[in-house]
Amino acid sequence: MQILKTVREMRARAEDARRSGVIIGLVPTMGFFHEGHLSLMRRARAECGLVAVSLFVNPTQFGPGEDLAAYPRDFERDCALAAAEGVDVMFAPEGAAMYADDHATFVNVERLTASLCGASRPGHFRGVATVVAKLFNVCRPHRAYFGLKDYQQVRVIETMIRDLDFDVELVRCPIVREPDGVAMSSRNSYLSPEERRAATILRRSLVAAGGQIEQGERDGAAVARRLRETIEAEPLARVDYAEVVDAESLAPLGRIDHSALVAVAVRIGRARLIDNLVVEAG
Ligand code: PAJ
Repeated sequence: MQILKTVREMRARAEDARRSGVIIGLVPTMGFFHEGHLSLMRRARAECGLVAVSLFVNPTQFGPGEDLAAYPRDFERDCALAAAEGVDVMFAPEGAAMYADDHATFVNVERLTASLCGASRPGHFRGVATVVAKLFNVCRPHRAYFGLKDYQQVRVIETMIRDLDFDVELVRCPIVREPDGVAMSSRNSYLSPEERRAATILRRSLVAAGGQIEQGERDGAAVARRLRETIEAEPLARVDYAEVVDAESLAPLGRIDHSALVAVAVRIGRARLIDNLVVEAG
């Protein structure tokens, strides 16, 4: 596996692959790999001639007071895991290689970012869309692999690709979970054993909401209310949001009559955890 640290080297490698007609798959990450990240790499490996993984803890998507400095990092381990998945190139730029001191240009995807994580983390998706646009321009992927654990991120990047005519196909990948249902996340490493047990409330609350909808409940607000109450019954959990929205526009859903996204963000200890469930109500 090649490790590239500069935009110039990465761009040259991508151009070289494109000239030879090789399909490039990109897996953008912030590192500290777990099975969720590895599942994306595996899928890219199966579908692409050149697999590039970017590892960059992107400062512009962290708000003041968020966990940028504390974000878990283990570069050696990440390289070993990526190499074992058959990744060809690890693009791991330094902060200064990605952002000039006087960086001034940002990508802002409107509306979709007004709700859910966009509402509780102002500026977050502006940072995400900006860095992903830059990664697309540097790595020149034909396909880019994103996990549905970050469902709103997927919708934001799909919309950016469409609106700005990026020639990239976004591949949606399913959420990978621990045996007890907790979605894998680099931030699970913040949890004490007791908090880790409490974290099962996210998935349990989503499954309960899904069951309610399956049994015919069509009132979005009623489902959201129950969802919040279920989470609040866990003493270690503080609800950031618990919502039922349209799975495409992410706007609040009064009546559940088509594809709905049930989404939660919950603070447990010093971690802020998210999870979601898509429900098809015909
Ligand atoms: P990061 O949190 O490292 O996640 C990288 C990719 O792994 C994302 O597409 C995310 O959805 C996916 N992922 C994380 N946990 C997953 C799980 N349990 N199952 C399936 N996929 C999972 O998301 C980011 O980094 C950043 O915002 C980034 C897109 C790299 C831009 O900086």
